[in-house]
Amino acid sequence: MLSRLALRRTFTATAFNPYKVTVLGACGGIGQPLSLLMKLNDKVTDLRLYDIKNAKGVATDLSHIPTNSVVTGFSPEQPDGLSNALKDADVVVIPAGVPRKPGMTRDDLFNINAGIVLDLAKAAAKSAPDACILVISNPVNSTVPIVSEVFKKLGVYNPKKLFGVTTLDSIRASRFVSELANTDPTGEKISVVGGHSGITIIPLLSQSQSANALSKEQKEQLIHRIQFGGDEVVKAKNGAGSATLSMAQAGAKFANAVLNGLAGKEGVLEPSFVDSPLFKKDGIEFFASPVRLGKDGIQEILDIGKLSPEEEELLNECKDSLKKNIDKGIKFVDSKH
Ligand code: NAI
Repeated sequence: MLSRLALRRTFTATAFNPYKVTVLGACGGIGQPLSLLMKLNDKVTDLRLYDIKNAKGVATDLSHIPTNSVVTGFSPEQPDGLSNALKDADVVVIPAGVPRKPGMTRDDLFNINAGIVLDLAKAAAKSAPDACILVISNPVNSTVPIVSEVFKKLGVYNPKKLFGVTTLDSIRASRFVSELANTDPTGEKISVVGGHSGITIIPLLSQSQSANALSKEQKEQLIHRIQFGGDEVVKAKNGAGSATLSMAQAGAKFANAVLNGLAGKEGVLEPSFVDSPLFKKDGIEFFASPVRLGKDGIQEILDIGKLSPEEEELLNECKDSLKKNIDKGIKFVDSKH
């Protein structure tokens, strides 16, 4: 049998771009399919899976897939399990935490997930301070500010490398528009900006030819469906969780875009909830909009473009909630220091 070092040499000799990716919360509903998709990504050569349960099992299972990466499972029971999972990672994806049950909003998850994200962010700041951090755990509007505050307090904050994953909102929007407009869903690109929860999610239908051609009533229903699309899944799963498979696809799509940026590919654009100058004048520190990804993470934060009067209204409604969600995350970290 080849030693781990020999395996790594064999892989890196043939790999185009060798990247280390860590998934924190790798054994949950999102974590498992997301880890599978990361195992299938040829830019990933070192895949580390960390969870409070079953990481070794999931890693061993994935390790039998003949792609160009070594997969390792890490658990809190191992000495330095978390720090070894994170050490020198290029990309850290965080889907750790509890999902919603019917009737819950994302904000209802705050009490449990804020603490989980805080602890994981502290570990990441110490062991992978240069990594791109991709936060999936909800409420994203608050968990992203939690990570930024932790990194700031530990003196390693780089706003170009912190991302709230909002890709699911855009892929849902593309799908829902294509169903109504009878178009190819793979060709639909709907810009969704703002935040990642209810009315903070703002689909910019006026910027899409096929969406804009729909009736006023269809557009109103569509906006509501995109804002509350996650509830459809929570309701259908009836207590067994929220979106996992579509989210894994969304997370893998975004992680792949970040890796493409790191690898120097040109023209990589994806929406993300980031530390943004766009509405700082209104006291909003984080905002989701299209970002250009590059070798150092965010290369450019793009403007949200021209809005219809109805979209301007949605933006105004979003701002208050978004600001409260962001402040809640920041205050949570302050209360722990
Ligand atoms: P899940 O309960 O199936 O999995 C969560 C995993 O996190 C479990 O394996 C659990 O053991 C692990 N975990 C808990 N505490 C941990 C810790 N301290 N360290 C490491 N791992 C830990 O939940 P699911 O469905 O995978 O959802 C995960 C999160 O993603 C939830 O907060 C959910 O709301 C969020 N989510 C985000 C979306 C987005 O668009 N950003 C979409 C859908 C869900």
